[in-house]
Amino acid sequence: MEKYIINGGYKLSGEISIQGAKNSVLPILAATVISGGTSIVSNIPKLRDVDMMVKILSSLGADVSLEGDVLVINSSQINKIEVPEELVREMRSSIIIMGAMLARFGEVKIAFPGGCEIGPRPIDLHLKSLRQMGAVIEEAHGFLDCKTTGLKGCEIQLDYPSVGATENIMLAAVTAEGVTTIRNAAREPEIIDLQHYLNEAGARVVGAGTSIITIEGVESLNDCNHRIIPDRIVAGTYMTAAAITKGEIIVKDIITDHLLSIIAKLREAGAIIYANGSALKVIGPNKLYALEMLQTLPYPGFPTDMQAQLMALLTIANGTSIVNETIFENRFKHAEELTRMGASIKTFGKVAVVKGVKELTGAKVSAKDLRGGAALVLAGLVAQGTTEIENIYHINRGYESMEENLNKLGANIKTIK
Ligand code: EPZ
Repeated sequence: MEKYIINGGYKLSGEISIQGAKNSVLPILAATVISGGTSIVSNIPKLRDVDMMVKILSSLGADVSLEGDVLVINSSQINKIEVPEELVREMRSSIIIMGAMLARFGEVKIAFPGGCEIGPRPIDLHLKSLRQMGAVIEEAHGFLDCKTTGLKGCEIQLDYPSVGATENIMLAAVTAEGVTTIRNAAREPEIIDLQHYLNEAGARVVGAGTSIITIEGVESLNDCNHRIIPDRIVAGTYMTAAAITKGEIIVKDIITDHLLSIIAKLREAGAIIYANGSALKVIGPNKLYALEMLQTLPYPGFPTDMQAQLMALLTIANGTSIVNETIFENRFKHAEELTRMGASIKTFGKVAVVKGVKELTGAKVSAKDLRGGAALVLAGLVAQGTTEIENIYHINRGYESMEENLNKLGANIKTIK
């Protein structure tokens, strides 16, 4: 298994252009099933998770080709309704293909995705909503057998603003009979990007980015072109890398509005951040400050996908910080690994107490999940000596060319087999 070897102590400087958003590409690739035509999607990041979704579409019979950072998906030849179990188990977010398959074929068989490293990841809200729209879903032997004679629009009140459930309902509703209203919908920017793709394909979706999304069913969707928005979590990760190494970097091709809660917390920790259109300059201070409270919340609150990265920064801030992870049940696995590097962190369920230390020291650590792995890289950049991170396949799920990007910014990192 591949490992990163990082020699710490280098300040980052230079500029980096941010990749397309993983969490926007995945639902939009699922959505390309609905039209039965050709979708041309650009700004595609080179990621394991994108490869997995392409594999799923191809396994169903779609014709998918990648030209540079442009994916051309022709879903006219899809002739299977069963999503391969091993692919669903490998990437649980593929569950959002359910809504798209029901919209196109009225039928889909898919393995129960099950949990992952950060928690059990239930899909009860997805299933309850799709059943409300007229899907008959049988759960047996670890599979979901879904059928419908025709989805019907309805009023859906989500118990929780689930990103995936909001996306699944949107995909099921675009060709349903009548109007679907989702209340307490997730408000993430990736939901807005999905709405843009769907409307470019002829759907009638309004309200994404607010808590109320209305979808008026149409006969069918057409061919369309779409460019994926920048990845706000990848941007936030590199911004944190500048802050933790006392560096100075420019993060380009971003949408500043998507980063407001991350900017606020990095500034509170002492980083100096200048915004200029689609770029940000981030300067790491000589002194980092502890955060009284870092609480993860649904958008526009502070994103759970940035919690681990900020925790890495707080391990060397002056003072004691409180981190409250309110979204996922088990998203502190990086804390134990950071402790091996000299951090002082105590966790109590969904709360972690991080007492800043003078410095971290390089150690052998293990990435347990995508964002936790990114946090270990950030810690390795600033630790005294050499850090070895194993299981970096987790990191490659969401970060394109991380080693190359960091070395270009002056870090000293290499991959070994
Ligand atoms: C999406 O996951 C993202 N993944 C996650 O990013 C992100 O952390 C999460 O949203 C929250 O922002 C993709 O977009 C591919 P949720 P999703 O449904 O849709 C509970 C990353 O690092 N819940 O909003 O699975 C659930 O258990 C990944 O890029 C139910 O209880 O998130 C969790 O506690 C990690 N029942 C909370 O809601 C349901 O039916 C948030 O889940 C659905 C969710």
